[in-house]
Amino acid sequence: MTEPQYTHVSVLADETVDLLITEKKGTYVDATLGMGGHTARLLAALPQEANVLGIDWDPEMAGVAARNLAPFGERVKIAQGNFANIDEIVAREGIRSLSGALFDLGISSLHFDKPSRGFSLKHDGPLDMRINPDNPLTAYTIINQWPYEQIEHLIRVCGERHSGRITRAVLEARRVKPLETTAELAALIAKVAPARGEKIHPATKTFLALRVAVNYEFDNLTRGIQKIMPLLKPGARMGIITFHSLEDRIVKETFRIMAKMGGWELVTRKPVKPSEAEVLTNKRARSAKLRVIEKL
Ligand SMILES: C[S@@+](CC[C@H](N)C(=O)[O-])C[C@H]1O[C@@H](n2cnc3c(N)ncnc32)[C@H](O)[C@@H]1O
Repeated sequence: MTEPQYTHVSVLADETVDLLITEKKGTYVDATLGMGGHTARLLAALPQEANVLGIDWDPEMAGVAARNLAPFGERVKIAQGNFANIDEIVAREGIRSLSGALFDLGISSLHFDKPSRGFSLKHDGPLDMRINPDNPLTAYTIINQWPYEQIEHLIRVCGERHSGRITRAVLEARRVKPLETTAELAALIAKVAPARGEKIHPATKTFLALRVAVNYEFDNLTRGIQKIMPLLKPGARMGIITFHSLEDRIVKETFRIMAKMGGWELVTRKPVKPSEAEVLTNKRARSAKLRVIEKL
């Protein structure tokens, strides 16, 4: 059977290109390459002399991006790795300084749409959720092995009001047999914490919490920002697109501290949000926020 064609529509693409480019002939890093949409837009807006290093933690995604970006030839280099180690990745590529950096956080539409990756509420798949399949921790381990306190805390801090009820149901179910699939978990949550007028599926916040924990997303974000700071040239900008309030809070607070410390200036005092037109054509954009900071 042939693999379906996955697509990913880049969020806030015009705004990102407008706000990130300060030097025409520089080297930029796209720390979350995905299918290469933002990188393609950056390269198209820059002259031939400029290039982009694209990084993705997921080897599958790095492969997809390599195919999509082939028309740009030598202007794009692709590296597989965790942006938490961005200093090492950039050094390995022989790059000493950067003219700009983009982080478009989270996962790609391919991750959501490919059932075998186990991220989706819509498609049944294994409880996996690893961005990098070499990662030892999976959603299965959390759901079937973590103690009550840890699961309850994890989903509560990610905004789930019914954290106690959901965790009790998980522990009860796994006493009989392990929970194996995304559909099993989603159905269990819908049963014990049914939606009451909310537009989102009752398991949305639990799924987000599991993904964040499996991939150490907050830790990676903090480390990625810290590691990239010394690599940016004066005048270079860092842009970060977030998709939920917890990661936006980290970016907002980190940028605020950077600006207060000196040597950095906020380019966006308020986050840039997608237009109504963008949200109408791309539902995934509805919660996006772009924040940009410049090195002085
Ligand atoms: C929202 S998608 C990026 C989409 C991309 N900007 C585009 O336009 O096609 C986020 C990507 O970041 C990758 N990613 C997530 N965490 C990462 C990390 N810690 N290091 C490197 N890549 C990461 C995911 O695998 C995913 O492909």
